[in-house]
Amino acid sequence: MKFEEKQIYINGNEVSYIDEGKPGGTPLIFIHGFPFNKSMWENQIDVLKENHRVIAYDVRGFGNSDPGTEENSILQFAKDLFLFMDAIQCDKAIICGLSMGGYIALNAILQQRARIAALILCDSQCLPDSEQAKKNRMDTIASIEKKGLTDYAGESIKKLFSETSLATKTEEVSFIEYTILDTSKEAICNTLMALANRKETCSTLYLIEVPVLIIVGKEDQITTPEVAKKMHELIPQSMLQVIDHAGHLSNLENPESFNLYLRTFLKRVG
Ligand code: MLT
Repeated sequence: MKFEEKQIYINGNEVSYIDEGKPGGTPLIFIHGFPFNKSMWENQIDVLKENHRVIAYDVRGFGNSDPGTEENSILQFAKDLFLFMDAIQCDKAIICGLSMGGYIALNAILQQRARIAALILCDSQCLPDSEQAKKNRMDTIASIEKKGLTDYAGESIKKLFSETSLATKTEEVSFIEYTILDTSKEAICNTLMALANRKETCSTLYLIEVPVLIIVGKEDQITTPEVAKKMHELIPQSMLQVIDHAGHLSNLENPESFNLYLRTFLKRVG
């Protein structure tokens, strides 16, 4: 880990996080996608810490955070975000979530909207799983329980990265494969279930009153640019940026463009 890892205990469970940068101003909290951890944001933390307080934490069960005893659900993960903010004494933050991190952010803003100053939704969506997607998740759980994580990690990276990134971004691809293999089977299977059970948030997007930046990789096959465009149409104060040369992991695949859009947005929202 490039940055110092901190720990805080919530109801007896450890939450592992990074807290870097300049105090003052509204902090920016990063929420990772599935099945990754806070280390996926290292590049963004590095670039932003000069001018902002930047925080990234591990969702329960991932990275070095304890799984806790509550059933995994996106609603629970959103509650956890506020418990974490309480614990680090952060009243209000700008939330940046990638994919599952975005699902969490969209649930969080429904729970305590006054505590979110702005949202950045990266490679994410408001749609629930289709019946086929739910079935695929159940098949994946069965396969992981039987065979472990190796095949799952290999299959996942093919869908996560654009074809060009798969061929050229070998360090990032290995990092993600390693991250998946280093995650517990329980966390992955319990969260696959939580993802399959999540509710849609599209019908609530019109309620979002804060500035929103939507980012999507041009070649994202999991949460496509079409889906991002739909969210942009439904969220009043939103802007959409499509990232070239990137699939589902736009912050890792094209950090230059990703960071540029992020910085421009942060300048705008103060
Ligand atoms: C993620 O990156 O968080 C996942 O692709 C989300 C999902 O599987 O729906």
